[in-house]
Amino acid sequence: MSKTLPQLLRREQVAFLVRDRRAWGDHLNRVSSFLGEGLQAAEPAHPVLILGAGSGLEVPWDLAPPLTTGWDADPWSRVWTLLRHRRWAPWVFEDLTGGLADLEAAARRAAVEPWSQRRRPMAVASRRLAALLPYLLPEPAALQGWISSHRPGTILVANVMGQFGVVAERIVETTLGGRPWLEDPEQVDPLAEALERWTRRALTRFLGVLRESGAELWLVHDRAVVWGGGSVEVGPWEDDWTRQLHASGAELEVSDALAGVDVPTVLTGGSLELTRKKRWIWPLTHGQRHLVEALALRRRG
Ligand SMILES: C[S@@+](CC[C@H](N)C(=O)[O-])C[C@H]1O[C@@H](n2cnc3c(N)ncnc32)[C@H](O)[C@@H]1O
Repeated sequence: MSKTLPQLLRREQVAFLVRDRRAWGDHLNRVSSFLGEGLQAAEPAHPVLILGAGSGLEVPWDLAPPLTTGWDADPWSRVWTLLRHRRWAPWVFEDLTGGLADLEAAARRAAVEPWSQRRRPMAVASRRLAALLPYLLPEPAALQGWISSHRPGTILVANVMGQFGVVAERIVETTLGGRPWLEDPEQVDPLAEALERWTRRALTRFLGVLRESGAELWLVHDRAVVWGGGSVEVGPWEDDWTRQLHASGAELEVSDALAGVDVPTVLTGGSLELTRKKRWIWPLTHGQRHLVEALALRRRG
């Protein structure tokens, strides 16, 4: 696994938990009742897997069947869960994308001259990394291996997919020793674009493994991030999430949290059908609201 990942996730988790949560009540109720429904619908004779289990802020562990395993690469997540829920669940601490170690190694290769061990200037490192990224193919082998040996009947994906791109960015910044991104939004940023494509590959492979898992799926994730303070409403469901957001007053600045991947499109078409779909706004902090998407997919028939 990536050397930087455990420390990075632990820091992010602490930052997440110390945020002002006064405006999170509605989001936490919705996410916990949705995931709770998934846990109650699970067949207790089959293993259940909770991906991105974190500290259990959003997961009602009291409803989890006995054969439930948590999965989160934050080394403190299991202990946080014990403290919050009095549940010492079996746990996996692996990287869910399977690609962050390779990403970190590529960033190190780009950042440092192998013959002198000297750091390259940021612009050079950034160009080199942008050229290496297309060759990286994240493969969630640990997840695939766990699924083949345990055959879970239900998998919950608890608000982790929107983190894949954010964590990849942090690993690049940490390894290159600063922010390599071009600040001018009018300029094409080859590294940002290459990393966005890496994230798209990571999400698509991850979802491919879930689609082939044979399990019923309950997913909650950030679909988009809305920046700025103007008012925003979520209208009735639209397959295209951008059409569901309505601004009044100021124009919206919105970024895609899933690098252009449409989750229902990737997951349906085979043996799974979409049985629940919902989106709502989570006011994370001042000037940053997340459009959250909750989807349940059950086996046909
Ligand atoms: C927004 S938090 C989810 C909170 C969690 N559902 C809860 O109830 O506390 C995202 C979680 O995903 C984990 N995570 C992020 N990227 C990961 C990765 N590549 N592999 C494994 N876990 C990851 C983080 O450590 C964090 O706990």
